[in-house]
Amino acid sequence: MNNQIPEVTLHDGLELPVIGLGTYALNGNEGAAAIQRAIEENGYRLIDSAYNYENEGTVGEAVKRSAVPREKLRITSKLPGRYQTYEKAIKTVQESLYRASLDYYDLYLIHWPNPKQDHYVEAWQALIDAKKQGLIRSIGVCNFLPDHLKRLEKETGEKPSINQIELHPYFNQGPQRKWHEENSIKTESWSPLGHGNDILQQVTIQQIAERHQKSAAQVVLRWHYQLGAISIPKSANPDRQRENISIFDFSLDDAEMNSISSMTKPDGRINDQDPAVYEEY
Ligand SMILES: NC(=O)c1ccc[n+]([C@@H]2O[C@H](COP(=O)([O-])OP(=O)(O)OC[C@H]3O[C@@H](n4cnc5c(N)ncnc54)[C@H](OP(=O)(O)O)[C@@H]3O)[C@@H](O)[C@H]2O)c1
Repeated sequence: MNNQIPEVTLHDGLELPVIGLGTYALNGNEGAAAIQRAIEENGYRLIDSAYNYENEGTVGEAVKRSAVPREKLRITSKLPGRYQTYEKAIKTVQESLYRASLDYYDLYLIHWPNPKQDHYVEAWQALIDAKKQGLIRSIGVCNFLPDHLKRLEKETGEKPSINQIELHPYFNQGPQRKWHEENSIKTESWSPLGHGNDILQQVTIQQIAERHQKSAAQVVLRWHYQLGAISIPKSANPDRQRENISIFDFSLDDAEMNSISSMTKPDGRINDQDPAVYEEY
């Protein structure tokens, strides 16, 4: 797909680059221009979006404007919590496609498990059926805990290819990542740079960055890559987009990896969104 960015193969055979572009708050004409630049000038091939970001149209427009062929791209969207019953989920996948003017999504994820609502298994069945109909190439989830993941496979016979979870140095998700690895589910990191909090200013990160003559963001994204996670940093800025994807000419040693990982804290989530109780519609 792209010579410079390593790829991983999901358990269903779909290949994805290990870094993609987050698009939260990239909307309208400015958003489309930023995403188009990311694709055409800065080498991004994996684009994350969601029904709830109200930017599937923006992403679709960037895909249409871009000179890179559609089949070289990996476009993601997500099913919102309010549409998790089977019929609504099927219609929402169709609506997501209409919004983006796409024939298919490469990856479609359930956005949150919303366990109190308890519709995520029928939503999953809808994604399985939408995949059979050719509307989606690979299906996954976000923010699912091991108990939720186990239930999907037990009740439908199919497990997600990916679980997109909150992951950054303040919340390194060790046990969850290990569980994914043991069950052939790929980890994808959301808010990989901490969503603009103070992670990039931390001395631990700054010192490692100085040693390697890299930026703090590059060090953090390299840490994600060496953990084995796909990351989707969001940037509207072309220089930072380029910076974020340029992390394949250096490596962190074990001590550096461990010192970043040890910044994790039990309450390190950015907005205290624990999927066991937090619900999003
Ligand atoms: N599944 C879920 O529940 C879920 C939840 C949250 C997010 N997500 C996805 O994950 C994506 C990424 O997460 P995020 O947007 O929350 O946060 P993020 O990617 O961790 O951080 C984005 C912030 O960092 C800045 N930034 C980017 N590159 C930088 C660099 N090299 N140096 C300094 N600052 C830099 C950006 O500003 P500029 O744009 O000005 O560069 C922006 O303010 C989202 O866009 C979305 O697609 C998914």
